[in-house]
Amino acid sequence: MGSVYVYVCGGLSAIGNVFWGVLFGYDIGVISGILTMPYFRKEFPSGPAKEGSIVASLLAGCFFGALAAGYLSDRIGRKYSVLVGSVVFVVGGILQASSTTFAQMYTGRVIAGLAVGELSMIVPLYQSEISPKEIRGRLVSLQQWSITIGIAISFWIDYATLQIDSPQQWRIPLWIQIVPAIILVIGTFFLPFSPRWLVDHDRDEEAITVLANLRSKGDRNATVVQEEYREIKENVTFEREIAAKSYWELLKVGPENIRRRVLLGVFIQAFQQLTGINAIMYYAPQIFSNAGLADNSSRLLATGVNGLVNMLATIPAIIWIDRLGRKPTLISGGLLMGSSMIIIGSILATHGTKYFDESLGKHFVYLDNKGSSYAVIVFIYVFVASFAYSWGPTGWIYPAEIFPLRIRGKAMSVTTACNWLFNFVIGLVVPILLDSIIWGTYLIFGIFCVLMAAAIYIFYPETKGKSLEEMDNLFGNVQKSKNLEKNEGELEAA
Ligand code: BGC
Repeated sequence: MGSVYVYVCGGLSAIGNVFWGVLFGYDIGVISGILTMPYFRKEFPSGPAKEGSIVASLLAGCFFGALAAGYLSDRIGRKYSVLVGSVVFVVGGILQASSTTFAQMYTGRVIAGLAVGELSMIVPLYQSEISPKEIRGRLVSLQQWSITIGIAISFWIDYATLQIDSPQQWRIPLWIQIVPAIILVIGTFFLPFSPRWLVDHDRDEEAITVLANLRSKGDRNATVVQEEYREIKENVTFEREIAAKSYWELLKVGPENIRRRVLLGVFIQAFQQLTGINAIMYYAPQIFSNAGLADNSSRLLATGVNGLVNMLATIPAIIWIDRLGRKPTLISGGLLMGSSMIIIGSILATHGTKYFDESLGKHFVYLDNKGSSYAVIVFIYVFVASFAYSWGPTGWIYPAEIFPLRIRGKAMSVTTACNWLFNFVIGLVVPILLDSIIWGTYLIFGIFCVLMAAAIYIFYPETKGKSLEEMDNLFGNVQKSKNLEKNEGELEAA
């Protein structure tokens, strides 16, 4: 019985992780195709600014959801927070899929966003608290991979339902997003409480039972169980005594240089969005239209291929990120993405003619020859593949590994919210940029990518293979402690 439980829980939490990633990714991807569907455009006639707000309303919700997650998960626990997030998501999903007015659509997107943002904090936290420590590192890359699977699925569903000649064309993809959420709702009932949270709420006996069921077929006295329990207990006591009580502590300089680490975490998350990846993820069909694909079906097909490229190119990261290191990955990715964007912008600038598309209500570029169209499409794929092996996973890995335990929760909720904030801004302004300065949009992102590669080279220390204590040496004010040592030495000598 015990061992069955281990497998069921282990399996369910792994599946939970995958479903969660798929839900996150599906939600990011699904809207891009919908915005271009004829039936959607008939019911929701919108220009660039309105399109931006349909995309960005979800992301605004995500920002607040991520900020609220820390408090909620401490109050009601991880398990029930996942449940709340999934139920809220279902409500948001139903509102979107059944909407007939802009107001209902925006409300549905904001509500779904609150859930996505909340879950983006809690699922990884819960995962890391119930899984054996050997596999914790891999989880971050795996989560990124399931996000890309979700994006790819959504692109292909959009492509498939485009063929339907009724409003179901856009409603079905929105109904489908509820499926993984319902599976999460049901699955949560079978999941155990996080042992870490139980100990933090003085429910030690229950924590030992959960650990025993997860790790040793129900044997509460097994060494693994007792050791892990002791470790958790020590951690909790430690955190209660010295953990950061307020967000102000994130601004402290001190010998540990917390402020520097927070800034590095915040900037790497903002940079991840400023690469322009979501310009492509949210507006791919329109971008393919600039690349010379005339009909909607071929644009959605190219978008589907884009989803596959993104998914497949994440695999090398899962395998090699720990060997290659963070810095070379981020720098090479930044330079490759920057070059691709600059090439795309230059081709559009030199071979394109601007025109106004009456049916879509905005400006596009017409490319005068097939060669330049193909080149643009190829470089969009090169850009996406370069993001997928580098900034996609590493943008999340780096902030997860640089903070000392006592401030990790607070620091990560700030860095995660920052990712959503910049994601929101990109979602909002990109359609306006694509309509007004078209090729200039690509040049702006291209320049950002190159500058960010330089910033990584100059400011970011390599964190590959470093333990928590080594992180302190890496980021701490080494000069200051050296001076201290020197002074002490001199004093002793005197
Ligand atoms: C980013 C998302 C992005 C996705 C694309 C994630 O790491 O945070 O904003 O849409 O990668 O695969």
